[in-house]
Amino acid sequence: MKASAPAKIILFGEHAVVYKKHALVTAVNLRCYADVRKSSNFKIISPLGTTSLDFEVHPWISFAIKNFSKIKPIEGAEVKIESEIPIASGLGSSAAVTVSVLKALDAEFEAGLTNDDIYEIARQVEIDVQGMGSGTDPFISTLGGMWLVPKRERLKFKDFDILVVDTKEKSITSEMVRKVAELRDKYPDIINPIFDAIDGITLKAVKVLKSEIDKEVNKNELSELIFLNQCLLKAIGVSSIKIDEIVEKLKEKGIAAKLTGAGGGGCVIAIGNIQNVDLENSFIVKPEKEGVRIEQ
Ligand code: MEV
Repeated sequence: MKASAPAKIILFGEHAVVYKKHALVTAVNLRCYADVRKSSNFKIISPLGTTSLDFEVHPWISFAIKNFSKIKPIEGAEVKIESEIPIASGLGSSAAVTVSVLKALDAEFEAGLTNDDIYEIARQVEIDVQGMGSGTDPFISTLGGMWLVPKRERLKFKDFDILVVDTKEKSITSEMVRKVAELRDKYPDIINPIFDAIDGITLKAVKVLKSEIDKEVNKNELSELIFLNQCLLKAIGVSSIKIDEIVEKLKEKGIAAKLTGAGGGGCVIAIGNIQNVDLENSFIVKPEKEGVRIEQ
């Protein structure tokens, strides 16, 4: 059986969300596809290579299979992955691969899991692989749509474009989350107020989006909030020279941009006057309503 799950973009609130602050997150129209067939042994085929269960090369898929097997023991499976989501880019490729594999395993082995079960297992996989994390990525990839987390409030929105610029530098979530945790341990009186400020930015952005629900999104105000969020992400050390360069290039064009996801590399995002931007490794995505699904 084949299943797919979407990528996600954190519009506001990454890192602060690890400390229970709000984040505004949307699924986007890039998907990871997992094709799972019963087999007498385990074989995983992906852009990362072909392996058996392998917790080094394919940690997310291997832990997904291991945790699924605790609910429904299986002797083998062939898992084939095709993905439109750039890997280690802050767009939630790890969560999307985990969630799509779990959905395809569930369908192939008739385990009777609900999407809530799939989220819970994917959340456990995040902890197994990464140690720390807010659970936001598997949540969005499972359910689709735009959400205020950790409150779990689903937001209605008028369709809009999001510009994504890929730095082509890897964004390793576990490393960046650990780095921020160390900074917070060292300077709690400085870093906690930054998280409070990010929380305020996220809640303000939600207000703007809600008030504009029937009109064009108020891109000016959102742009200012994007700029502020990026400054605070830089303050906690998760920007990079490449990210700063892209943010500056877009600023010259009058467009506010920020990193998305864990940072240190990965992607920069912008909304607003982005139609004619012609930057290397840039593309447009749209919010996606649908989460994990079976593909016919
Ligand atoms: C990663 O996409 C977002 C972070 O906030 C980590 C997390 O929420 O688990 C950096």
